[in-house]
Amino acid sequence: MALYYNISFFLLLLLMTPNLELSLVKSCFLAPKIQVHIINKLPSNTAQLQVHCASKDDEIANEYLAIDEDLHWSFCESFFETTLYFCHFWWGSMNKSITVFDDAELCVHSALYANYNNNCKWEVRQDGFYLEMYNITDVNNPSFFMYHINYWS
Ligand SMILES: *[C@@H]1O[C@H](CO)[C@@H](O)[C@H](O)[C@H]1NC(C)=O
Ligand SMILES: *[C@@H]1O[C@H](CO)[C@@H](O)[C@H](O)[C@H]1NC(C)=O
Repeated sequence: MALYYNISFFLLLLLMTPNLELSLVKSCFLAPKIQVHIINKLPSNTAQLQVHCASKDDEIANEYLAIDEDLHWSFCESFFETTLYFCHFWWGSMNKSITVFDDAELCVHSALYANYNNNCKWEVRQDGFYLEMYNITDVNNPSFFMYHINYWS
């Protein structure tokens, strides 16, 4: 009875503190852990790709990415508000800011299929920004493919 009371009290405390910083915990408590990958797939022998990724309260990186380099991070998706991560890219004379996460189910609102693996994998290419999709329309033959979501301009 005492144990039950203590657990209930703990859960009540959790519910009463929506700003509890769950992302400090390695494995997420009552929340999906989401991974974001930003992979430089630009042609070699071109200008270096510069990337700045952040959310409202989380600074991820502001750095140059080598060809095939994978900038990645993970976080716990909050119950109380949807996290939004964006990245700003500079490549030669071009620059572009895109949302890389704003939807726990789809990675981004504009995606085609649910992201079953909690893994948002982006590729930066010469013609724009691709997000990996997992297509299970045919459950016997699911497949991954890269979906062209954003353009440089
Ligand atoms: C991005 O490119 C646009 C259009 O070329 C330019 O006006 C803007 O100043 C650039 N922004 C940054 C932050 O580099
Ligand atoms: C998803 O898979 C189905 C069945 O395999 C296929 O017909 C459809 O074209 C695929 N959709 C995309 C966007 O690749």
